[in-house]
Amino acid sequence: MTAIEILGLEKTYSVGFWRKKPKCALKPLHLRVEEGEIFGFLGPNGAGKTTTLKLLMGLVFPTAGSARILGMEVDDPRMKAQIGFLPEQPYFYDYLTARELLNYYGQLSGVASKERAHKIDEVLQRVGLPEVGGVQLRKFSKGMLQRVGIAQAILHDPKLVFFDEPMSGLDPMGRREVRDLMEQLKQEGKTVFFSTHILSDAEALCDRVAIIHKGELRGVGAVADLTSSVHGKVEIVWQGTTVPSSLRALGAECHVTGDTVRAVLSEANQDSAIEALRRERLRLISVIPVRTSLEDYFVQKLQPSEAVAGVRS
Ligand SMILES: Nc1ncnc2c1ncn2[C@@H]1O[C@H](COP(=O)(O)OP(=O)(O)O)[C@@H](O)[C@H]1O
Ligand SMILES: [Mg+2]
Repeated sequence: MTAIEILGLEKTYSVGFWRKKPKCALKPLHLRVEEGEIFGFLGPNGAGKTTTLKLLMGLVFPTAGSARILGMEVDDPRMKAQIGFLPEQPYFYDYLTARELLNYYGQLSGVASKERAHKIDEVLQRVGLPEVGGVQLRKFSKGMLQRVGIAQAILHDPKLVFFDEPMSGLDPMGRREVRDLMEQLKQEGKTVFFSTHILSDAEALCDRVAIIHKGELRGVGAVADLTSSVHGKVEIVWQGTTVPSSLRALGAECHVTGDTVRAVLSEANQDSAIEALRRERLRLISVIPVRTSLEDYFVQKLQPSEAVAGVRS
C-alpha cells in the first residue's frame, strides 16, 4: 500500500509588513512513498523540506494540492493516531523530566495508562537515555533533547514516522545510533520519511530519496540507481607509493595517500594496468568500477535546470 501520496501540494507564504509579497516555499509537488520504505527527503537549507512536512502534518495549509497518508486525508484523526512526528526544532517545557514529558505525550496519543510506564521505559532504552528519565529537560544537551523528541514520536508505536532533520545536533556516535534506530523501525515494518541535508546519512540508510531545491523536486529514485557507475572507468588501488611509468602512459590519474596509490583509468586499459603492477611486483588491493556518489548527483541536481539538461537527462 502507498504510505504517503502527495498530489500537487504547493505552498506560498505571504511575507512583508502588509503580508502582500508572495514567497513560494513549495512548487506543486507530486511524490509517492510506499509502505515499509525508508525515504530520504534531501535538500539544502531553505529548500522547502520543513514546509512539506508541516503541510503533511496539517500544521500549515496548502495553497493548492492535497495529500493522503495511509490512505486517509491529512486532517483525519484516525490517521494521526498511526503516525509519529519529530519537528525540526522541538520545544519542550524545560522543567518537566523526560519521563513526565513522555507521559504527557503518551496521554495525548492515547497510550493506555497501565501500559504507559512500561512503554516509556522501553522507549527511553531505545533512544539511549535509560538512566535520565527522572532528570529535568533543562539539564539535557541538544543531542539528548533530540533523542527525547524521537522517543516522543515513536512512543505510541506508529505505523509511519516523520522525522525533520533527526541527526541535527548529534555527534557521530549519536548519528549512528539514530540510523540504527531507523533501520530497526523499518525491520518492524514501519515506514520512515525523514528530511536531511547530511547526504552520507541518507546514502547509508535510504531505500529511495527525493532531492528538492528552491521548492522544486529535482530528482527521485533508489540510491543505487542515482549513484550509477560512471561509464567505462575503474579505480585500481595498490600498496606502496610507486607509480609505474607504463601506468601513466595508459592515461591513469594517480593519487598517492599514505602507503597506497589509487589510479582512475579507462576500463579498456584495466588488464594492461594490472599486468604493469604485476611486473613491478606491486600488491594489488582492489579494482572497482567508479560510481558517482550521492553527493555528485545532489550537486548536479542543484544546478540550474538548463545546465543539467546537457549533462544528464
Ligand atoms: N512561515 C514562513 N513565512 C514565510 N516564509 C517561510 C516560512 N516558513 C518558511 N519560509 C520560507 O520558505 C522556504 C523554505 O523553507 P523551509 O521549508 O523551512 O526549508 P528547509 O526545511 O528545506 O530548510 C525558505 O525560503 C523559507 O525562508
Ligand atoms: Mg527545515
